Amino acid sequence: MIKRLFFSICCLGIACAALSAQPKLSKDNIPQIVKAMTVEEKAAFVVGVRDRSVPPYKDIFLPGTGGITYAIPRLGIPPIVLMDGPVGIRLDKNPTTSLPGGLLAAASWNKATAYEIGQVIGDECLAMGNDVILGPGMNLLRNPLNGRNFEYFSEDPVLTGLIAAAYVNGVQDKGVGTSAKHFAANNQETNRLDGDSRMDTRTLRELYVKAFELCVRDSQPWTIMSSYNYLNGEYTQESYDLLTNILRKDFGFKGLVMTDWTGKRNTPKQLHARSDLLMGGHPVQTEHILECLKDGSLKMEDLDRCVATLLELIVKTPSFKGSQRTLNPDLKAGAKAARELATDGMVLLKNNGALPVAKGNAALFGVYSYDMIPGGNGAAFVFCPYVRQLDEGLEAAGINVDAKLQKLYKNYAAFISEDLLYNHKVNTHVGHAQKPELEITRGLIEEAAKRSDYAIITLGRTSGEARDRILSQDFLIQENEKNLLENVCEVYQAAGKKVIVVLNICSPIETASWSYLPDAILCAWLPGEEAGNAIADVLTGKANPSGKLPMTFPIDYFDTPGAEDFPYNFISDKANESAVHPERRGLPFKNIAYTDYTEGIYVGYRWFCTQSKPVAYPFGFGLSYTSFEYSAAQVKVKGDKVYASVTVTNTGKVAGKEAVGLYVHAPLGGFKDKPAVELKEFGKTKLLAPGESETLNFTVPVRQLASFNSAKSRWETAKGTYKAYFGADSTKPLAEATFKVGSAKNYPTTRACEPKK
Ligand code: BGC
Repeated sequence: MIKRLFFSICCLGIACAALSAQPKLSKDNIPQIVKAMTVEEKAAFVVGVRDRSVPPYKDIFLPGTGGITYAIPRLGIPPIVLMDGPVGIRLDKNPTTSLPGGLLAAASWNKATAYEIGQVIGDECLAMGNDVILGPGMNLLRNPLNGRNFEYFSEDPVLTGLIAAAYVNGVQDKGVGTSAKHFAANNQETNRLDGDSRMDTRTLRELYVKAFELCVRDSQPWTIMSSYNYLNGEYTQESYDLLTNILRKDFGFKGLVMTDWTGKRNTPKQLHARSDLLMGGHPVQTEHILECLKDGSLKMEDLDRCVATLLELIVKTPSFKGSQRTLNPDLKAGAKAARELATDGMVLLKNNGALPVAKGNAALFGVYSYDMIPGGNGAAFVFCPYVRQLDEGLEAAGINVDAKLQKLYKNYAAFISEDLLYNHKVNTHVGHAQKPELEITRGLIEEAAKRSDYAIITLGRTSGEARDRILSQDFLIQENEKNLLENVCEVYQAAGKKVIVVLNICSPIETASWSYLPDAILCAWLPGEEAGNAIADVLTGKANPSGKLPMTFPIDYFDTPGAEDFPYNFISDKANESAVHPERRGLPFKNIAYTDYTEGIYVGYRWFCTQSKPVAYPFGFGLSYTSFEYSAAQVKVKGDKVYASVTVTNTGKVAGKEAVGLYVHAPLGGFKDKPAVELKEFGKTKLLAPGESETLNFTVPVRQLASFNSAKSRWETAKGTYKAYFGADSTKPLAEATFKVGSAKNYPTTRACEPKK
C-alpha cells in the first residue's frame, strides 16, 4: 500500500515537472516547440480550423473571417486570424473602409499610393484583430474578361510586382502580414478549381511568376497563397517545382505558403511541395495526414518543415504579440485616405475642353451615377459604411444637380435593386448582376438640356469571384447604353453643351464604337466608398487626373492576343457559379478543362506594340489638365545595375503629377524574338506647380533586362545596344536614350514547371 502510494506520488511529481517544463512558443525556440508537439497536434496545426464556434476560436471569429489557425495553448501557440482582402477587410457585419481597387492602385503608377493603401489596411487589421490580410491579388490581366481583374493590378508583371511590393510593405510596416495571391497563372474564373493553365516555360517565367518574383524581392510577403488551378497538368498547391524550386530556391521566398480555400487534395504531395498551411481546412485533412504518416507516403520531416514555417509566421503576428483588437477602425481616416488615393489612379481618356467643369448646373444620366459601384464581389467585397454617390459628390462640390433626373434615377435604382434581389440575381459572394440602363425618352433629355449647362453619363460594370465576364453582356456596350449616349450627345452638343462620360468599371470595356460621341471620358474604375467625392474632385479640377492605363483597351475584343483561348462567351450552368456541371467536369473542353496560353509572352502591349496594331487606348495612356516636357534623359550601366534618369517639367497652367515609365528595347541575343518594348521601372513626380521640374531616377538590375531561355533554364541578358524610352504611354516615348551592355550575362535557375510533351 505504502509502496503504491509512493509510486503514485512519484508519477504525479514527474507529470507536474513535465507539465511545468513545457516550453512556451517564442521566436527563439521554434525547433524545441516542434519537438514538444504530438503528432496529432502537428497534423491538426497545418490545417485551418473549420469549427469556429468553440473556444478559443469563437472569441476571435467575426462573421466573414476567411480563416483561423489551430491553437495549442499548452505550448503558448495562439490561433491567428486571416481575413480577405485585398481592397479592404472583408467582413459581413463589421464595416471597414472600401478602398480603391487593384486596377486603380496600379493605374496610379505610384508606389507611394499603393503603400498608403497598405497602411490603411494594416491599421484596420489591427483594429479588427486580423493577423494576415489575404491580399494583394496579383494575377496578370491576361484577358479583359476575367471576373477578378478589378482586384488585380495590370497586364504587365513589373507594374504588378512593384505595386504589389509597395502594398505589402505598407501593410507589413504596421506589423500585419499579407498573402500575395494567387500563385500562379490563375487568370480566369471559369472552372477555376480545376482548369489547367498550359503555357511554355518562357511565358511562365517572364510573365506569370515574374510579378511574384519582384514582389518577393522587394517586400518578402509573410505569406503567399497558391492558386486553385492546375499549371501544366499539376495543381499549383501540389507542385514542388512551383512552391519550392521556383518560389523558394529561385526567388528566395522565406515565408509561408497557404493553399487557396480548397477541399482535400493530395495531402502528402502538398506538404512535400511546401503548402505549409492547408486552408480553409477540414478535419478530414488532419486525419489524412495521420494516415499518410502511418503508411509512409508522408515523411515526418515534410510535416515538421511546414509546422516550423507556420510557427515562424505566428511569432510575428499581432495576436502572438498580445495586440488587443478594438473593433473600432478609424473609418474617418479610412474615408479621407480612400478619397485622396482614388484620385491618383483615375485615367482621363478624352478631353475636348469639357473638363474640368465650371460649377453651374449638371444633368446626371445613367443609373450608376446614383448607384455607384465601389468595388467588386467575392473575397474582395467590402462591407463599407456607405457609398458616396456621384450626385452627392458634385453637390458637395457646389454643383447644382438636376433634381428631376435625380428623382427619376434614384427611384429606378431602388426598383432595379429590389428586382434583382427578388429574382435572386444578387449574391454577395459572386456578384450583383449588371443593372440594365434605364430607357429614357428624347423629350426628357431635351428638357434636361434646357435646365443644365452640361451632362454627365456614368456607365457601370461590375464583376466578381467565381464567374468571368461575358463578351456580349459585359465587354460590349449595350443597346440602351448606346441609345443613351447618342441621344444625350446629340441633344446637348446641338445646344453647344458638353457631355462627359464617367466609366465606373471593373475591367476594360469596348470604347471604339462610341468614344467619338462625348466630349470627355474619365475612367474612374471601382474607386471605393468615396467614389462620388473622388470623381467630383477630378471633374472639378480639385485633383488633376494623373492615372495611366495599367492595361490595353483593345478596339475589338478579338484583337486581344489569345482572345479565342479564353471562355469569352461561356455562361456557367448556374448563374452564380463558376463550377462546371458535374457531367462536363473533367471532359477535355477547350478553355474550360484547360486553357492554352497560345499568345505566349505576347500579352497586352507586348503584342500590340510589337505588331504595331492599333488599339482604342494603349497601355500607359492617360491625359492631364496640364502638359509636361521631358528632358535630360540619361542611362548608364555600372556594375550589375542600370541607372536611368529623366527630368519632367510642368509646362502647363495648373499643378499636376506625371507618371513615367522606363521601357527598354533589348537586342535579340540568342533569341528568335523579343517584345518591341518592355516596362522595366516606373515612377511618379510629386505635384509639380506650373514651371516646376523634377528629375526621376530609376535603377534596374542588369538581370532584369534578361529573357528566359527555356532550353537552358536560365535568364540571358544579351550583349549589345539597348534603347530606353521614357513616358508612360507604351506607344509614345517622350524621351529616349541608348546604353550598352558590354558582355552577355547568364543567370541559371532550377528547371521547373515545364509543359508536358
Ligand atoms: C478566394 C481567395 C480568398 C479565399 C478566402 C477563395 O475562394 O479565391 O482569394 O482569399 O477564398 O476567402
